[in-house]
Amino acid sequence: MPFDPPATPLRFDPSVEELEKDEAQTTQGLIEQMRKIAEITYEDGGHAMRAVHAKSHGIVRGQVIVPADLPAVLAQGLFAQAGSHDVVMRFSTSPGDILDDSVSTPRGLAIKVFGVEGARLPGSDGASTQDFVLVNGKAFNAPKAKIFLANVKLLAATTDKAEGLKKVLSAALRGAESLVETLGGESATLKSLGGHPETHILGESFFSQAPIRFGDYIAKIGVRPITPALTALTDAPVDLKGKPYGLREAVSDHFGAHGGEWEVVVQLRTDAEAMPIEDSHKPWPEDKSPYVPVARLVVGPQSSWDEARTPKINDTLAFSPWHGLAAHQPLGSIMRVRKAVYAASQEFRLTRTGCPLHEPAAIADVS
Ligand code: HEM
Repeated sequence: MPFDPPATPLRFDPSVEELEKDEAQTTQGLIEQMRKIAEITYEDGGHAMRAVHAKSHGIVRGQVIVPADLPAVLAQGLFAQAGSHDVVMRFSTSPGDILDDSVSTPRGLAIKVFGVEGARLPGSDGASTQDFVLVNGKAFNAPKAKIFLANVKLLAATTDKAEGLKKVLSAALRGAESLVETLGGESATLKSLGGHPETHILGESFFSQAPIRFGDYIAKIGVRPITPALTALTDAPVDLKGKPYGLREAVSDHFGAHGGEWEVVVQLRTDAEAMPIEDSHKPWPEDKSPYVPVARLVVGPQSSWDEARTPKINDTLAFSPWHGLAAHQPLGSIMRVRKAVYAASQEFRLTRTGCPLHEPAAIADVS
């Protein structure tokens, strides 16, 4: 793994954050909208689900391996100590309702790392896990939480509304999306409404989109596939026609026969103006600071979905950027509001499924 970090990343200091006006009300508004989505899907299906990223396409176990020769600026937080940790990884798509996969939407990857030592984030005391909650794009679809709340109101209003219509809309949006991409753009709004290209989820790279503390520094974090069995799937079309669970099948087919490796990458913050903390809408420029590898994620062949046990694991697991080390404190408006919103969503669904949140202490507890 070649390490070539920028020589002079900007240092973390609490003063890099600036509260958004009315942030407490925005957080409350997001809690209410997410609750509305979860209540609707609960009423429809009798089962409490995540308010977003409800549909999982596979849950796999593996290891994250931190090398011994990381340069000092990269040997931070979880990555300060060489060694290996067990991980569990959950692949998802963004809607809060379980739509056919032909309604093609952005993809998520949540990773829980076990056996992590160090000072904890508030609300995550006593645990020894570190979560990374990622989506397959380098920037979030709104700059700040207040604007995101306005978008979520639209999402909450369309939850549950005529899936047939969403499918037609999705096909039309994919056409519009590829036109936007041909013209050199990329529309997060079209993608989130069903205009995402119908490609294999395991070829994707995933990113935090918003910044985290990276020990002494600040970074955005991501994972990208590196082994040929996975990189061959990048942008590879998947036929999802008539296959409501086509992505789950594609993931199962892959892990039934192969493993895969990703590298964990970070983009260190080197320029305060070009790499804002409080605006998650624009990717940080990679010519100023490229994503560089800090670890490898290794997953062996296995069953990624077993109808007898995976649905329960899917229900009982809970990921949040606020489960983890103080050294990886989530930063900026979008990140701050997620603390209370995820906690409320998790409380809602975990109490309804009769099993309040118990953060697993080891991979053996994920069963
Ligand atoms: C203000 C912004 C955001 C809000 C309000 C929000 C809200 C939520 C909620 C309520 C959940 C369900 C939690 C649960 O019940 O377990 C969730 C899950 C998720 N979110 Fe967010 N989110 C936001 C931003 C983001 C960002 C920036 C990313 C990644 C770049 C992201 C990726 C995900 C993923 C992947 C999941 C599924 C986690 C899992 O597999 O359990 N979200 N989000």
